[in-house]
This record gives sequence, C-alpha cells and structure tokens, in this order.
Amino acid sequence: MEKRVNPLKIVDDRVVYSILLSMRLIYKSLFVAFLVGLAVPGCGRVKERLYSPGDREAWQKPGQVLDILGVQIGNRIADVGAGAGYFTFKLAERVGDPGRVYAVEVDRDMLEILQEKKELLKRGNVEVIAGDQVGAALPSDLDLIFSCNVFHEMENPEAYFRKLQPLLKRTGRVAIIEVDPKGAAGLGGIHGTKSEEIVEIMKRAGYTLTANHHDLLEEQHFLVFEKTGL
Ligand SMILES: C[S@@+](CC[C@H](N)C(=O)[O-])C[C@H]1O[C@@H](n2cnc3c(N)ncnc32)[C@H](O)[C@@H]1O
Repeated sequence: MEKRVNPLKIVDDRVVYSILLSMRLIYKSLFVAFLVGLAVPGCGRVKERLYSPGDREAWQKPGQVLDILGVQIGNRIADVGAGAGYFTFKLAERVGDPGRVYAVEVDRDMLEILQEKKELLKRGNVEVIAGDQVGAALPSDLDLIFSCNVFHEMENPEAYFRKLQPLLKRTGRVAIIEVDPKGAAGLGGIHGTKSEEIVEIMKRAGYTLTANHHDLLEEQHFLVFEKTGL
C-alpha cells in the first residue's frame, strides 16, 4: 500500500527546524560577543559587566565568603586576577586602614578601572599591581592569597602559586574560587577547572587542601589551602 505523507507534518518539521536553527545562531552570536568582549582592549566596561552581572551578589555570596575566610582588620591580602575589583574593595573594607589589599591584574583595562575605583572610593589601603602570567611584584607576609574565577585563565597555575608560596605568612592561606565546569557557566565542560585538578596542581605547587566549601556556591568551587608541611 502507498504510504501517505501528511503535508502538515512536513510544514511542522520545517518550522521546528527553522526555530532550532535560529536559536543556535543566536546562541553562537552571543557566545562570540562574549569572547570578543573579553578579548578586545578598551572593552573594560563590557568585561566588568560580564564578570559581575547585576545578580552577582545573590550567587556569589561575598559576605559569607569573607566570613568563612575570617578576613580581619589589619590583614594583608593579595587579590590575584582582581578584574574590576568585585572582591578587592569588599576585602579592603574588611581589612580597614591598618590592612592592605594588593589587587593584581594582567589586563590593562582592568588595571585602569581598579585605579579609578581606588581613587573614587578613596581606598588608600588598596594597591593596584600590574602582573603577568609568570608572577607579580608582591610583598611578603601575606595572610591570604585570594583568587576568584582566575585559575582557568592562568597559563601555568602550578608555577604561579609555587612562586607565591614564600610570600605567605607561615599560617597564611590561599583561597581559590573557580568556575565548576559542571555548572551552567562551565559551558558544557569547556570553561573552568575540576576541583580534583585544582587540588592536584596546588599540591605540586606546595599546598595542602584544608577546606572545601562545596555547599556554599552553586556553580563555583571554593577551596582553601595552606602551605604543605606546617
Ligand atoms: C573572570 S575574571 C575575574 C575577576 C575577579 N576576580 C572577579 O571575581 O570579578 C579573571 C581575571 O583574571 C585576570 N588574570 C588572568 N590571568 C592572570 C594572572 N596570571 N595574573 C593576574 N591576573 C590574571 C584576567 O585579566 C581577568 O581580569
């Protein structure tokens, strides 16, 4: 018997196909715009928006993060990969005038924004430091090396953190908040770093994991390390 083709079904399939194709194109264009925003010099404000969208306080929980880390008046903290200073200025408020926050960046646009904000907010306890992928001229006696969403961008995190090790106080800690590749921001596993990988890299760099706050942040790892052999 001859098989009848339902013309409506063909139209249906074509409509669905065109919708899917358009969605894919929109998704791809947004992703390209995201990458262009990150790569183009002079796009500092675009990058700032991308790093800190309007709802960031809700998912980043900065107050709880700093409480857990026990950041106190007088602490000396390096914010490595400070970006536009989302955590830098919150840290600076906590450490107060006797403390110091060293905001390290490799991106010229971010360095400019950090400097502008420091002046605008009259934060004399923030020092903006231009670094590179190999290191930064940081002082010693640091209580905390803090780094949020930077680990996956570092060319060689093992060498970088090994170099910073002697600058930490004996009881100092390193806090790493990093994009979980399994979350939505992980873009299907291509963005971020697995927690086991961070722990392994940090071990080779001379640190031991002391806390894994896996239930605080939904889409990010929050790991704390101290120097190995204390
Ligand atoms: C996704 S942004 C995060 C910024 C900020 N920590 C935040 O949470 O909003 C990552 C930043 O790390 C910086 N970065 C990447 N590698 C770096 C390195 N080796 N040293 C210092 N900054 C670095 C980039 O320029 C970028 O501004």
